Amino acid sequence: VTVTQEELKRVAAHRAVEMVESGMTLGLGTGSTAAHALDRLGELLRREELRGVAGVPTSLKTEAHAARAGIPMLQLGEAPGIHLSIDGADEVDPELNLVKGRGGSLLREKMIEGAGERFVVIVDESKLVPRLGCTGAIPVEVVPFGCLHTLGLIRKVFDGLPGFRARLRTVVPNPKASADDQEVPFVTDNGNYIVEMFFDDGIRGDLREISDRLLHITGVIEHGMFLGMATEVVVAKKDGTVVVLH
Ligand code: A5P
Repeated sequence: VTVTQEELKRVAAHRAVEMVESGMTLGLGTGSTAAHALDRLGELLRREELRGVAGVPTSLKTEAHAARAGIPMLQLGEAPGIHLSIDGADEVDPELNLVKGRGGSLLREKMIEGAGERFVVIVDESKLVPRLGCTGAIPVEVVPFGCLHTLGLIRKVFDGLPGFRARLRTVVPNPKASADDQEVPFVTDNGNYIVEMFFDDGIRGDLREISDRLLHITGVIEHGMFLGMATEVVVAKKDGTVVVLH
């Protein structure tokens, strides 16, 4: 039997939801893996196997999904404290540092997941990497004003690094509607733009120092490297086993 990646995502999500107890306030993640956790939470609330749970959504999409699933919600700051956050990730390195935000949400995720007591990451084993940035972009959320100037400053951080590229993330707004496939900047839930950084073989060096340098650029709001934030990583493997790394 071949297990699909979608099934693995569901298995990891369900395992994390087992950690939820009645009365908890949860950070609700964004993405296809976190979506399984929302469905499962909704199911357990309907069956009254869980009671008094409230969620703080990390994106507008998650807010809409959680509403459909019947999960009561609070905004960040309304909640007395977040006990546990559950979210997917694009990459997980051996130190449990993450890349997040390839789906476009990273700022709200970092605010909410950084505020809680526990942050449980749910992934299938394809997300485990030797170095961050191995399998795709590391996103950086930037203010729209002067975004090309900010892009230039981000490039300077990695000046001369072979294979490094950075570009503004764009989308074709409505590809089916017209032959005019003019690309426009991708806009986040917060009304900002995304710069995507690419590294041939992943990002090398002191990640905290690189993080500090990026965050010191005026115009950069946040980046998608989540360093030292995950308290547990639930990994669903193709051989049917689930491991919890911490
Ligand atoms: C949302 O922008 C991301 O941070 C997601 O958490 C991440 O991309 C994982 O998404 P999938 O579970 O869909 O892979």
